[in-house]
Amino acid sequence: MKRILLPLLGLFICNCLFSQSLPVRLSKDNIPEIVSLLTPEEKAALIVGARSTQFDGVGYTSLYVPGAAGTTHPVSRLGIPAIVLADGPAGVRIKDRPCTRFPNGTSLSSTWNADLVEEVGAAIGNEVREYGVDVLLAPGVNIQRNPLCGRNFEYYSEDPLLSGKIAAAYIRGVQSQGVGTSIKHFAANNQELNRLFLDARIGARALREIYLRNFEIAVKESDPWTLMTSYNYINGVYASENGELVSGILREEWDWEGTVMTDWGAGHDTGAIVSSGNDMIQPGSDAHYEAVLAGLRDGSLSVAAVDSAVTHILRLVVKTPRFASYEYSNCPDLEANAATARKAACEGMVLLKNDASTLPLSGRENIALLGVASYDFITGGTGSGDVNGAYIVDLQQGLRNAGVSLDGAVDEFYASYMEYERARCAAINKPGKKWYVDAERALEVVPREIILDAASAADAAIVTIGRVFGESKDRSYYHSYCLSEAEIELLRCTSEAFHRAGKKLIVVLDTGGIVDMAPWQHLADAILVCWLPGCEAGNAVADILLGKENPSGRLPMTIPVRYSDDPTFGDIPEILTDKPFNYSFYRQNLGDDFRKRYEIPNVDYVDYDEGVFVGYRYYVTGRIKVSYPFGFGLSYTTFRYSDMKTVLDGDTVHVSVRVANTGSVAGKEVVQIYVKAPGRDMKKPRRELKGFAKTGLLAPGESAVVEIDIPVSLLASFDERSDGWALEKGRYVFMAARNASDPIRKSRLRIR
Ligand code: BGC
Repeated sequence: MKRILLPLLGLFICNCLFSQSLPVRLSKDNIPEIVSLLTPEEKAALIVGARSTQFDGVGYTSLYVPGAAGTTHPVSRLGIPAIVLADGPAGVRIKDRPCTRFPNGTSLSSTWNADLVEEVGAAIGNEVREYGVDVLLAPGVNIQRNPLCGRNFEYYSEDPLLSGKIAAAYIRGVQSQGVGTSIKHFAANNQELNRLFLDARIGARALREIYLRNFEIAVKESDPWTLMTSYNYINGVYASENGELVSGILREEWDWEGTVMTDWGAGHDTGAIVSSGNDMIQPGSDAHYEAVLAGLRDGSLSVAAVDSAVTHILRLVVKTPRFASYEYSNCPDLEANAATARKAACEGMVLLKNDASTLPLSGRENIALLGVASYDFITGGTGSGDVNGAYIVDLQQGLRNAGVSLDGAVDEFYASYMEYERARCAAINKPGKKWYVDAERALEVVPREIILDAASAADAAIVTIGRVFGESKDRSYYHSYCLSEAEIELLRCTSEAFHRAGKKLIVVLDTGGIVDMAPWQHLADAILVCWLPGCEAGNAVADILLGKENPSGRLPMTIPVRYSDDPTFGDIPEILTDKPFNYSFYRQNLGDDFRKRYEIPNVDYVDYDEGVFVGYRYYVTGRIKVSYPFGFGLSYTTFRYSDMKTVLDGDTVHVSVRVANTGSVAGKEVVQIYVKAPGRDMKKPRRELKGFAKTGLLAPGESAVVEIDIPVSLLASFDERSDGWALEKGRYVFMAARNASDPIRKSRLRIR
């Protein structure tokens, strides 16, 4: 007996000693214990992030993965590592590290293909993980309310359903790689002008149905690890200090348990930020840190609020690769990812015009390639949405790779002109230039004689028009939305010369958003919008121009006849666009009085007067003529719709419609389901997108039944009188449509 007991006793004593000396380390099962062991200083440090991050408007950290956007704070004694955060959305943004430039947000949403976007997300996730990053600060899902918003290229659409579904797919893809995302910017960051101080004044209905619904869909369908609040105020309260929004709607109503962080430098009152449910302040400062401690000391900040924030942060940390000590390779599969980028870029391109089947080209033509953007292709936007890409295939290279012959004289002219312009731009774009100052780009040129000669020597002309913009300021109507005199002149001269010779002009719009079309579109035989399609740009555009890929992209926004037709026209004052107003002016002039706001309309606040009638909801309801409707896009083939059915089954409406390829080449069709509500209880848009699906590649003559499920809850509107969702009873019209202006089949359904 003694012989058995003695060793057992020894083991017991050993165990006791050992467990006393073994420090407790964070695990996914002991978060409450860890929270109880953290000192107030450690909690404050966790909440405010690394602080050492340099802040000059776009996130930059020198820690762990230098050039990423930021990190959290480690607490080594409890086994809490720092985790790394990097932008997003068009790939991973790490300074000096070659990452794949994927197509931008607008390009992805133009695919209307959630499966493909999920594939893109997975490819981006691979780079996130293999470069040692834990959370990608993407996707950006804010509504493209006004065409001049400087960040529209990062965002998806003027429609919340399309935005939400594409965002959910992107998030699922990225997170399938074991890394996190941060859906942003919650909410109503719909313009950049004065973004740190702008009050978005939005009625409850529009807020719920338009500006939050995109987030709601994505949060519920993909469960992002984190969410980033926006810079702006919403109805007088900073989004990052807004308890109703963060604790109320996001967490309680939507039942979401992830981690919330501020945008970089957003918010003002540390106590209000933490108390509202915003867990992490990025990049954080010593002042934030001190404020958390002071708040805890004087009781203005509750221990419960702080512990809740810390708990959310720790729940995030335990999910990350860094916590699992993942040994990242620094060597993502750039080749495979470039192929994914090219595929998505093709599918996001929208063919707006194709008179007399100008496209596809046969590939045997001799092409006059004009426009400086053809040789200096724009593949992404600026600011935090930029990606430090490994390479760019411009259109000249893309066409050459595809074996297309280019007019020699035109080629020669641009070779020397671009050499001159590149040197001129390089002298202006010196290192150290502020991130929000636009880079000088080659000036457009009209080589008249060369064009006239090319009209007899070449078979067709391609002109590329480029536009780049980004975070911190909005686009100028005159200098970005409208084409310049030189661009119009280039189009006119080329159109006249080539048409006189019986030849065609193809225009490629390499732009992050829409441009004014009415003054010049009649000059072109074909117009292709490729958005900013990422590193494989030239190859992808060539794939479409030559018919290797059949265009299947559809507009995620309306292109009005005139900008002034838009209900939000004037909300971005021209005189202030193009200026990083908030940084240079407010930061210097307001000093300590950071919160101060004036009462200047469209500078200090914007009234969202149009309510839910944003984009096509406005144009279609008011029967206002547009240049191209929401959802529009041509194909090299044609489709026929038949057999539309709607069946109500419990709380879901099943819609089905047969789509047949009636043309002579294979193609994909986007079936869009719009719904007209009875509209007796409150004013409703004449059509609202409630579902969509893209077919697979249908061979000529092939047909497929497209099935789309629409939850009945998606038909409800937000009733401001009762402050709740209300489902109107009565007859609903379901429309299967090619775009918002072109319903093809209708089916009626009574909701009781
Ligand atoms: C942007 C965010 C970005 C952050 C970090 C901010 O300026 O608004 O979208 O994630 O910087 O770079």
